[in-house]
Amino acid sequence: MKVTVVGAGAVGASCAEYIAIKNFAEEVVLVDIKEGFAEGKAMDLMQCASLNGFDTKITGVTNDYSKTADSDVAVITSGIPRKPGMTREELISTNAGIVKQVAENLIKNSPNVTIIVVSNPMDTMAYLAHKATSLPKNKIIGMGGALDSARFKYRLAEALGCPASDVDGMVIGGHSDTGMIPLTRLATRNSVPVSKFISNDKLENVKEETKVGGATLTKLLGTSAWYAPGAAVSAMVHAIANDSKKMFPCSCLLDGEYGLKDISIGVPAIIGRNGIEEIVEIELDDAEKAKLNESAEAVRKTNGLL
Ligand code: NAI
Repeated sequence: MKVTVVGAGAVGASCAEYIAIKNFAEEVVLVDIKEGFAEGKAMDLMQCASLNGFDTKITGVTNDYSKTADSDVAVITSGIPRKPGMTREELISTNAGIVKQVAENLIKNSPNVTIIVVSNPMDTMAYLAHKATSLPKNKIIGMGGALDSARFKYRLAEALGCPASDVDGMVIGGHSDTGMIPLTRLATRNSVPVSKFISNDKLENVKEETKVGGATLTKLLGTSAWYAPGAAVSAMVHAIANDSKKMFPCSCLLDGEYGLKDISIGVPAIIGRNGIEEIVEIELDDAEKAKLNESAEAVRKTNGLL
């Protein structure tokens, strides 16, 4: 398995590091526009190989897409992150041009690649990647829900006073502070609904903390987070490499599923060798359906800025 990661910044490098540590890819190519930056990150990461015991070969290139040829998976993290107080949507004017040009360069060199879009505003960037390439819709996946769900589980575990590994929960909808929908109704602790253990007020608080999970970190860090985003992307790349058919909420181009068309937005999907193997339509209650439609409207509004 050959993986290209475009953008050797905080998220791209974290993603490359997790992929290497899991030791399932033969090769990771880091690409960045900043002269020497990807080369430097790759060298630093390769100097972890003997310490962390991995065989993955990581190389870095400055904008040379010929080195990305025949990648199985490409991750797009190039672009600017938000600063404290900014919304993800405000990044569109800078990131749209970058994501379009990167997606075009990727498919020129790897026509059968599966692309995972990370750059924000992610749902709109995933939609743009569909428009900029002629890849089938299963081959472009937006990463947002996997991260938001991990943050949801973190907040649930904190409220329940139990390990995050005991908790299950999912966030669907747009990857934005107002658009994401933590599905508290379906969240469980060891298969038991979480409502058995905590009050509605506490659950409501968990939901709100989850929605601003990225903004909370941006305020603390002065830029957006990278460890959990990198881990979330590497888990998805691993599912493709191993054809594991693991389910992640992720941004998929919908064609009637959930009553939505011509939009990329977060819904549960089975991920395997073909990218999105199947979009899973779960039964939503009326309030959740209304929230998903509202979230889709907001994503369409951002898509309109392209
Ligand atoms: P960063 O600033 O650390 O790294 C971005 C890198 O992209 C920089 O090294 C820059 O030189 C490079 N770059 C810019 N234009 C390029 C081009 N045309 N070709 C190749 N490389 C280029 O930013 P960070 O923190 O890594 O975030 C990257 C993106 O990921 C941001 O848009 C951020 O908002 C997004 N993000 C998305 C998440 C999600 O859940 N979908 C989570 C966290 C971040």
